[in-house]
Amino acid sequence: MPKSYRSTNWETYTLLDSGKRCKLEQFGPYRLVRPEPRALWKQAWPDEEWAKADAEFIVAGRGDGGEWVSRKEIPSRWEMNYKDMRFWIELAVSRQVGVFPENAAQWDWIRERIERAKRQLRVLNLFGYTGMASLAAAQAGAEVTHVDSSRRAIRMGRENQALSGLEDKPIRWIVEDVMKYARREVKRGVKYDGVIMDPPKYGLGPKRERWEFFRGFGSLCEVLRETLSDNPQFVVVTAYALESPPEILVPHIETMMKEYGGKLEVGELVVVEKSAGRNIRPAITARWWAG
Ligand SMILES: C[S@@+](CC[C@H](N)C(=O)[O-])C[C@H]1O[C@@H](n2cnc3c(N)ncnc32)[C@H](O)[C@@H]1O
Repeated sequence: MPKSYRSTNWETYTLLDSGKRCKLEQFGPYRLVRPEPRALWKQAWPDEEWAKADAEFIVAGRGDGGEWVSRKEIPSRWEMNYKDMRFWIELAVSRQVGVFPENAAQWDWIRERIERAKRQLRVLNLFGYTGMASLAAAQAGAEVTHVDSSRRAIRMGRENQALSGLEDKPIRWIVEDVMKYARREVKRGVKYDGVIMDPPKYGLGPKRERWEFFRGFGSLCEVLRETLSDNPQFVVVTAYALESPPEILVPHIETMMKEYGGKLEVGELVVVEKSAGRNIRPAITARWWAG
């Protein structure tokens, strides 16, 4: 049975309301309106509440692009925290803000796996974005290699590491195409005890190498199999916007982990709105851990 994973430990983020293909979110002191294609229902709160938003992302054209329109005085970036991790929120042209709040359930799980291992784990974080999962892993005691194609995301990751007071923790920040990097690690014989992957449906490497989930994910898992240590502890995949059930991840992770036994669970990340309790399920996930 697929599971639902909800991030229940936020004190600074709330999904306030949703509807008309939009969501109204509280990020620290600021309220934002962003597109949400899954919110096909009516907004539960009246228009006056939505009008209190500080900024709204207006989509332009068919892709992810568009622009932020400020309705009030709002800084270009501000600090927030999740537990003892601190990070920057920045309004980006992609509509993203520097953090995927629904992912907090994964950060907690990663931390738990590392703490339970009671030894220093080497963790590879692919498609790692601004580094929240890397910070969680490092904070729990892991040595982390973080890979993303976006220089901006890596810059924010380093800033988040400093903001969280984790400068002395071993995180290597790498701007590279994930497939190229994974293949290079196999050649170098580098081994990992934990793997985190947040693959988008489509993406680009730094030299415009194309990433397509349905063409590349199986091959990536096969390459990663060669990078596993003798005693891997966990693998976690979070995949956005695929419009597919979480079971599609099972054969890939089973093949990747078949020599190790362990347990595999799949499900969806869920965000519940404050206004009327409706669920938004932005990502599917697979979690494997050593039994
Ligand atoms: C869905 S986001 C990750 C979300 C993040 N883990 C979080 O919760 O904060 C996907 C990331 O993949 C990166 N990306 C896309 N294609 C890539 C590629 N070929 N190689 C490396 N990174 C890539 C993007 O720059 C983006 O940061």
